[in-house]
Amino acid sequence: MLTVALPKGRIAKETLEIFETIFGDGFKFDDRKLILETPNFRFLLVRNQDVATYVYHQAADIGVVGLDTLEEQGLDVVRLLDLKRGVCKVSIGMKVGEKLDLSKPELKVASKMVNITKRYFEERAVSVEIIKLNGSVELAPLIGLADMIVDVVETGTTMKQNGLEVVQDIMTSSTYLIANKNSYIAKKDAVLDIYEKINAVIKAEQKA
Ligand code: PRP
Repeated sequence: MLTVALPKGRIAKETLEIFETIFGDGFKFDDRKLILETPNFRFLLVRNQDVATYVYHQAADIGVVGLDTLEEQGLDVVRLLDLKRGVCKVSIGMKVGEKLDLSKPELKVASKMVNITKRYFEERAVSVEIIKLNGSVELAPLIGLADMIVDVVETGTTMKQNGLEVVQDIMTSSTYLIANKNSYIAKKDAVLDIYEKINAVIKAEQKA
């Protein structure tokens, strides 16, 4: 039995579709239920930011989560496979027409992703003030809370609608299959079995 942590929403749906492709029907959560049991798997519905926490503490053996979230949290888990879904970027955005000038003193950067932001500017030896927000980050430059934001960009619509544009990409993200380090050893056969089956689905899609 493998326990699988999935983030609510689109990623959960897409992941369960992969399991359905592999094993056939029956991979649907009942209304509001957070656990789904099948003969060989137990699926948990958790918040996106909590997937790696469940896996790290071995409350789940494997999980599915965005690379951006993994990089932000830095928890020690095994990155098994890029599922080639949920592709997005983490980018710096500024008001349209403004230029990124890292030599300017006292730059303020608003973001949900403070660790990715901190790393990016530290690597360039630029000292910035990072303002942690929990959402609606695009507002910050508009009302003068920050000079720029670091945020997830998928279609670019949110930035555009708010008069912002990408001035610099920081990383590309997509959805990853991850495993707990101990589970990876103790349940190696089961983990590798599902890894190979999922990999086959992804590969078949790429050829199609
Ligand atoms: C992300 C991000 C942007 C938006 C970008 O938020 O923070 O607001 O999506 O997508 P777009 O480029 O397609 O417009 P998300 O919807 O993940 O919600 P969250 O703020 O709860 O993380």
